[in-house]
Amino acid sequence: MRFGHFDDAAREYVIERPDTPLPWINYLGSEDYFGIVSNTAGGYSFYRDARLRRLTRYRYNNAPLDVGGRYLYVRDRAGGDVWSPSWQPVGADVDGYRCRHGLGYSVIGSQRGGIEVETLYLVPLGETLEVWRAHVTNHRDTRADLSLFSAVEFCLWDAWDDATNFQRNWSTGEVEVVDGVIYHKTEYRERRDHFAYFACSEDLAGFDTQREAFLGPYRGWDRPLAVERGRSGDSIAHGWAPCGSHHVELGLAPGETRELVFVLGYAENPVDAKFDPAGSQTIAKARVRPVIDRYLRTDEVEVAWRRLRDHWAGLLDCLQVATPDEHVDRMADIWNPYQCMATFNLSRSASQFESGIGRGMGFRDSNQDLLGFVHMIPAEARARILEIAATQLPTGGAYHQYQPLTKRGNDAIGSGFNDDPLWLVLAVAAYAKETGDLGMLDEPVPYDNRPGSETPLYEHLQRSLRYTLDRLGPHGLPLIGRADWNDCLNLNAFSDTPGESFQTTENREGGVAESVFIAGLFVLAAGEMAALADRCGRGDEARAHRAAAEGMAEAVRRHGWDGAWFRRAYDHFGNPVGSGGNDEGRIFIEPQGMCVLAGIGLDDGTAATALDSVAEHLATPHGVMLVQPAYTSYRLELGEITSYPPGYKENGSVFCHTNPWVIIAEARAGNGDRALDYHLRINPSAREEISDRHRCEPYAYAQTIAGRDAPTHGEAKNSWLTGTAAWSFVAVTQWILGIRPDHDGLRIDPRLPAAWDGFRATRRFRNATYDITVRKPRGTRARVTHLVVDGRRIDGNLVPPAPAGAVVTVEAELDPGAP
Ligand code: BGC
Ligand code: NOJ
Repeated sequence: MRFGHFDDAAREYVIERPDTPLPWINYLGSEDYFGIVSNTAGGYSFYRDARLRRLTRYRYNNAPLDVGGRYLYVRDRAGGDVWSPSWQPVGADVDGYRCRHGLGYSVIGSQRGGIEVETLYLVPLGETLEVWRAHVTNHRDTRADLSLFSAVEFCLWDAWDDATNFQRNWSTGEVEVVDGVIYHKTEYRERRDHFAYFACSEDLAGFDTQREAFLGPYRGWDRPLAVERGRSGDSIAHGWAPCGSHHVELGLAPGETRELVFVLGYAENPVDAKFDPAGSQTIAKARVRPVIDRYLRTDEVEVAWRRLRDHWAGLLDCLQVATPDEHVDRMADIWNPYQCMATFNLSRSASQFESGIGRGMGFRDSNQDLLGFVHMIPAEARARILEIAATQLPTGGAYHQYQPLTKRGNDAIGSGFNDDPLWLVLAVAAYAKETGDLGMLDEPVPYDNRPGSETPLYEHLQRSLRYTLDRLGPHGLPLIGRADWNDCLNLNAFSDTPGESFQTTENREGGVAESVFIAGLFVLAAGEMAALADRCGRGDEARAHRAAAEGMAEAVRRHGWDGAWFRRAYDHFGNPVGSGGNDEGRIFIEPQGMCVLAGIGLDDGTAATALDSVAEHLATPHGVMLVQPAYTSYRLELGEITSYPPGYKENGSVFCHTNPWVIIAEARAGNGDRALDYHLRINPSAREEISDRHRCEPYAYAQTIAGRDAPTHGEAKNSWLTGTAAWSFVAVTQWILGIRPDHDGLRIDPRLPAAWDGFRATRRFRNATYDITVRKPRGTRARVTHLVVDGRRIDGNLVPPAPAGAVVTVEAELDPGAP
């Protein structure tokens, strides 16, 4: 069952009924000011940091789920009928409901009783504010007299404190209302130099800033008393819960449409010029007032909307594909890169499932996210890499997280996730291949952000590899530490205390438990490092890295191979995890994906065997599960993975992040059919028809889909902020379609399914544009043996970089005879 449809031409998902299985969200803003907006106008906004600078309140995990938002209420003055054009919060029946989630904007509207209201929400580029532009149309053949009320609830900035510290916060709230603009200025009297504002383009019939006055006693957002009686209280909040509501009276002739604009924003003043008049407690408004006035103008809103669309078109134009599969095209062209930008902007902070109060950017997460946006924003990717690398520790280890505002490592979580440092190598390699900028390797970067500790970035990468080699276990495999990519495989935690953090607890000396996954990742990273070393004129080092990779691959072959698949790990006692000898948890996906992705077993048949085992034991119609059989009871020696009921999260769900590894592995092994098949099982657009089962948005990848052991098999959770975005993008565009940046050019090396006859693509690469056509006889599996580049034949599959500005035509006729 579907709840809407894709409008590919407009690059929108159009939700056609408001009662989606979960709030289906979109993101507003892509610089400093952000918001999440659901299909019923729920959500909240913040300036840069979803915890510390939250502008508006949102009540996670409430009933209904989506409480708090950017609300409008319509009241018919004749008869007093009250409704919300976004359906919520009033919930009165509406006709013609639609929510168009576009790139950086959403449009939500509906009709009731012959009145139509449609609201566009967006954050103009370069501004720290959001605009709501409402069109109100009277479709009746008589005049309509309406009251329109807006409503937001202000958050007292620190969302965590706001949700917990009532003994203080119910006394601190302050506002000003001047010339129809509501200013929220809690704590502005003391150390804050920032405030929020909420303005309206129309003359006001009234306003409210005290939540209790607007809602009335014992009422919720679904039936505010001010709206019901058609009169605001003109309340001024002193403490309690400041809110913002404008009341506008509209008289509309038959057929008439009126345009109204609301502006909600964030502003700062210089510390020594906060008040006007100086010495008063009144916010100085001279700086902000012109900004407000500008965006209250509908022509400025149009300009801002057009600029926003151009901005996104510019980013997406970096890669556009046309394949025989609409789900592949739609995700690769529009929604997947869009989601990758969300992970760039928000890491794991704010979504329906991330409450915005968890602190920190993940070291491994941020490095992997980069793989999905480096082609669109290489300069920002470079800055991000330097920022991440500066949190690395002198040992080569890494803080598991760092703070987005201070860019410092997070001491509370600390270090010891032994996979972390290796992801930095992959990120740098991806950046170097995309841009050809090897100069970054010479950038001086500190360790642990300590001035004076700088070495070239190159040395950070060397230390990353060294970190693994310095920490090998009894089988010559990497020690796992607190956990590897699978945060829940806590082989040294032995936690028996309820509520204790699996992330930070380590009760046993970590000298035995080893990870086959890290071994695979090391082989991959060492190979990337060797390629970098070669290009930096360090041939000896390159050879050493290749030797280290080969040594590790050998350890995997000897101690990581279980007979039909790769083992997952060795536990604290040296017992295998993910082995046919285990009663549960016999086969894990991660080492199959990562080892083959790194090239292990491609030449001796073990890769093919491992992938066949994945198909046999882990693949379901809803994607490939993480582990089978799922654990049915808690196991002290394995940790958090066994804390989940079978089929959920790390305990045997389809943990989507891992699926692209297997997809790439299948592509590397030459099996384009299986690669595409696996991809389509988790591709959200391909799952649109089962939205009632999938439940999350059909336009964003989810972290997890309940596995076969779960009663809700096929149900997705944790959409949007997941490494699945970056890896799916890489798997589809670089491995199935095979358009893969490499140090010396753009590789065209597709592994297409037999049924396809080719595809077309346009790829921007190092400031040139490549128009790519791949043709293949249907029914065959074939590889590229030569290319025709601007009419000239080139042997192999590498297109050399063209001068900036060039438009290059690349044709590939796939040869079914090739291996
Ligand atoms: C989740 C993991 C996550 C970890 C750290 C666990 O509860 O299952 O997916 O990586 O927390 O945030
Ligand atoms: C989500 C975390 O953000 C990521 O770092 C981790 O690799 C996966 N969960 C798997 O545990």
